[in-house]
Amino acid sequence: MTDGLVIAVDGPAGTGKSSVSKGLARALGARYLDTGAMYRLVTLAVLRSGIDPADAQAVAAAVDGVELSVGHDPDEDRSLLAGEDVSAEIRGDAVTQAVSAVSAVPAVRARLVELQRRLSDGPDSVVVEGRDIGTVVLPDADVKIFLTASAEERARRRNNQNVAGGQADDYTAVLADVRRRDHLDSTRTVSPLRAADDALVVDTSDMTETEVVAHLQDLVHQRAGARR
Ligand code: DC
Repeated sequence: MTDGLVIAVDGPAGTGKSSVSKGLARALGARYLDTGAMYRLVTLAVLRSGIDPADAQAVAAAVDGVELSVGHDPDEDRSLLAGEDVSAEIRGDAVTQAVSAVSAVPAVRARLVELQRRLSDGPDSVVVEGRDIGTVVLPDADVKIFLTASAEERARRRNNQNVAGGQADDYTAVLADVRRRDHLDSTRTVSPLRAADDALVVDTSDMTETEVVAHLQDLVHQRAGARR
């Protein structure tokens, strides 16, 4: 019923976007593409080369040499840099702090957007998760979903994840970081974070992950039904 659908899932960090996108891909038997992981891979390569992430020219000059690959399976989304599995390292603090600066460099976006379009192509359904999928990468996507949640709720979720992962309990610092990243992501000149005009906006503040996945599945099925 959902063959060949392209589903864009955009929104800021902390909306449950990754878990929900994977859950949706699993439920639909679709492929899953995590575009944030690609920006994180380029960021890790930049840091490893000793390049200052704030030096846009040096970052732009380095991006073509980065050998990156990401998985397609929602149950096994491995991220590789020149063949090395760096799935855990790209989620670490160093990369998380530097990724907004690296992803604001136009040459980085140009290369990754082109790669994302290529990887999304094909006969199977695909769930593509990111920030600018519905607006820039795949403006013709069949279903565009934009997940939101209040900054406080996103900070609470992220802080809980940190605590579960053994990091310090510091809601105030996490909230400040959520606001800092929101600001950087929504005010950058290239592909600022915003919902596409034709996106379905879903506020996940008061919903469980299971409820969000079920709701998105309904939206996709309605859309698939309307296409016939
Ligand atoms: O979703 P995430 O936290 O893994 O994304 C990491 C960073 O990459 C985030 O700061 C925004 C950026 N990003 C982007 O600019 N465009 C995308 N399509 C995906 C992520």
